[in-house]
Amino acid sequence: MLNPERRMLRTMQTNPSHEWTLAEVLEACQWTDQAVAAGAGHGLTNAGFVKTNEEHQETIRVAQEGQNAVADGLLEARVWNWICSTEGADMAGLQATFQRHEAGPGVGLLKRLGVQLESGSFMAQDPDAVTSEIAKRTEFIAGLPAPIQTLDQTMLHHFQSRKGLVESVVMTTRTWTITPMGQSVEAAALVEQQSVSEITTELLQSDAWKDADFRSFDVSLESTTPRTGRSHPMQALIERVRSIFLEMGFSELVDDYVQTAGWNMDALFIPQDHPAREMQDTFYLENPASIDLPKDLTDAWGAIHEHGGDTGSVGWGGAFSEATSKKGLLRTHTTVNTIQYLAENPSEPCRVFSVDRVFRKEAIDRTHLPEFHQIEGIIMEEGANLQMLVATLKTFYAKMGYPEVRVRPAYFPYTEPSLEIEVKWRGKWLELGGAGIFRPEVTEPLGIASPVLAWGMGLERLAMLVLGLDDIRQLYISDLEWLRNQPIL
Ligand code: PHE
Repeated sequence: MLNPERRMLRTMQTNPSHEWTLAEVLEACQWTDQAVAAGAGHGLTNAGFVKTNEEHQETIRVAQEGQNAVADGLLEARVWNWICSTEGADMAGLQATFQRHEAGPGVGLLKRLGVQLESGSFMAQDPDAVTSEIAKRTEFIAGLPAPIQTLDQTMLHHFQSRKGLVESVVMTTRTWTITPMGQSVEAAALVEQQSVSEITTELLQSDAWKDADFRSFDVSLESTTPRTGRSHPMQALIERVRSIFLEMGFSELVDDYVQTAGWNMDALFIPQDHPAREMQDTFYLENPASIDLPKDLTDAWGAIHEHGGDTGSVGWGGAFSEATSKKGLLRTHTTVNTIQYLAENPSEPCRVFSVDRVFRKEAIDRTHLPEFHQIEGIIMEEGANLQMLVATLKTFYAKMGYPEVRVRPAYFPYTEPSLEIEVKWRGKWLELGGAGIFRPEVTEPLGIASPVLAWGMGLERLAMLVLGLDDIRQLYISDLEWLRNQPIL
């Protein structure tokens, strides 16, 4: 039993046959807060010590907009007063005295009371009847709030037909009577106890906690959700992806998104006339429009593209353009960064990943954004093979919560074999990214010694699965209500 319940029951035991009203309980218990009395009454009723009697009473009260009428008088009263106190009161005078939204309705109200315009001036057949009817109306609203059955029904209907003046609410009044079980509760059980609601260091250091009465909390009660700061779901998802790769022994790579076409495409053996290089797919930069590249690099890529260099490949043929290679662009994939990492560390075995932003000139729709994120990764080591690649991706998705993963043959200019990764979600296979083993045309010019497994997967696609979205745009529209209700990832 809580202290307020003890006090209320003790009080009620002093007069067992009485039906207690809220006011009586407040007074006898020396409380000012109605909620304390209501709460204690509720608790005692649940325990069977008290019986609650509830009465619902429909009450008519002045509505929000009706408050002005109470303060300044009803519109018809104000207009009628003006007419009575103004010599030759006419329409023009009325319009000059009252605001537009009052003049019209005011005349309307008075017309229904028998006031008319006669040869330009306002007249009434029986002015006293008008005055007395208006006085009755004024008295009616001054008498609110009141129980509905005590009101003059004709007057009530009149006011209910006018907009916003009165409203009806159901008020609940409670009274309490003590039950025989409540009467038999021993006085000793009703002594109020000092209860502890907060555990402090002082309390723990002293011995007082041993005999303390701890306040109990009902964790099943409804409560408001505290509005606290939290990560955006995309940021939370990035953190999760990051921690999975870190846990799998990968290191993170972070690099610029301003890049050259050379690294973004030529190094990856994407032919210079590849359609994806066109303006409609790639954002080329005006500044810097061109970024210098070492001559030996563009020469090496040129040889590969034109005739395959020393790789045994026949290349793409045609003439390689150094100027095209130097074009500045916003990276279209994060493979541009892993390939540079390999170029700088060609012989050190590695496991590297990145989760970063890429850009493509896409029209925005339900499943496309011009700016999105890729989950990129490479494994380079002696003996690395396709099986290892598939196993790594399967492990990643299993850790993300998607144990069903399959791969299908695909094509990328820079990998052989190439594959597409799909995960099963709600019974359907969804494509989430591409992967493969880098071709000799990619690895040989950079002096890369061992096989390189590589992949690039869409983060927003994955977010759609994790958050159950059917529109990718939802992730970036700053819909606070939606953001607040997202699960913590
Ligand atoms: N870069 C590819 C893309 O953007 C994905 C990929 C990365 C494919 C690495 C194979 C190897 O879709």
